Amino acid sequence: MSSVDVAIVGATGVVGETILRVLEERRVPVGRVGRFASRARDGVEATSLDALAPYPVVFFASTEDASAEYAPALVERGAVVIDNSATFRMAPHVPLVIPEVNPDDVTRAHRLFPVANCTAIILCTALAPIRDVAGLRTVRVATYQAASGAGRAGLDELLAGERALALGEDEAPAQVFPRPLARNVVPQIGSFDASGFSGEERKVREEARKMLGLPELRLSATTVRVPVRTAHSEAVWFATERATSVDALAAALERAPGVVFHRDGIVTPREVEGTDLVHVARVRAEEDGAGDEFVLWCVGDQLRKGAATNAVQILELLLERGYV
Ligand SMILES: NC(=O)c1ccc[n+]([C@@H]2O[C@H](COP(=O)([O-])OP(=O)(O)OC[C@H]3O[C@@H](n4cnc5c(N)ncnc54)[C@H](OP(=O)(O)O)[C@@H]3O)[C@@H](O)[C@H]2O)c1
Repeated sequence: MSSVDVAIVGATGVVGETILRVLEERRVPVGRVGRFASRARDGVEATSLDALAPYPVVFFASTEDASAEYAPALVERGAVVIDNSATFRMAPHVPLVIPEVNPDDVTRAHRLFPVANCTAIILCTALAPIRDVAGLRTVRVATYQAASGAGRAGLDELLAGERALALGEDEAPAQVFPRPLARNVVPQIGSFDASGFSGEERKVREEARKMLGLPELRLSATTVRVPVRTAHSEAVWFATERATSVDALAAALERAPGVVFHRDGIVTPREVEGTDLVHVARVRAEEDGAGDEFVLWCVGDQLRKGAATNAVQILELLLERGYV
């Protein structure tokens, strides 16, 4: 496999830094790696179309504005763009790919690859094997999302709040989160629309439907920020199309790519931080159900499988198939 030059826009952010690390760890055959951000500093260039133009592959891990400004022009010039922002995720004819779930949505003609919402990626990696053995009728999910999901500023705000509380100092007013996050739980991620659902809740619903290939799936999310540094957790209630059993679901999860199934016990965000797999535990049947209602717990590092690792896996898929 020949090497390919890649640019990372947002290389100073938490996802951009993780993309750099994951490329190295997975020994992806990359040549020159250009690091870009909003302004130039040591080893980092200011982002511009001219500066990005020489790179055949450009990762975006910055803002929706930057993706909207540069990605279409780069694609027009023949580059492959792998974009962690929400900008193009729901565009028709644009694949939204989890390589373990829907790799066949990628064709040679595609050049633009949005990476889905981190919570939706973790959810769909856990649910895809269940969809395959028993179908999916409804999904209800409550999330426990880490501070770094709101970028470096979110992580810093949590750490500053924790420090102030530990030292008995005045806590700075919350800026990134709607309420102080330290020693707290905040049931709002993104702004609420007229229906009362938040932006994050809508993304989870719409993107999960697209990735699972189930456009009519009944799916409702309550997304909540918790004072965890990294890794999102999710409690998922779901109804299958066909009656099945915990044993059948466990067997499907055990053989599913990208999943670590914990038949016994629990798994927590601190344990999975820094790992690339989605961990599933506590699969159980609803006691008053008819063999088609279940509950599970899943956890994944949202900076890695929910963003950087999934982005790098898309590049690996394209390299393997000779599409770049
Ligand atoms: N954090 C997560 O868990 C997560 C998960 C999935 C998806 N995402 C998505 O990934 C993207 C990056 O998120 P993040 O959490 O890594 O954010 P972050 O830590 O705040 O980093 C943002 C990066 O974007 C750069 N940037 C800002 N404005 C720019 C511009 N106009 N042109 C070029 N670069 C610009 C920043 O550069 P400066 O240092 O110069 O400001 C920084 O490198 C976002 O679209 C986010 O929604 C994040």
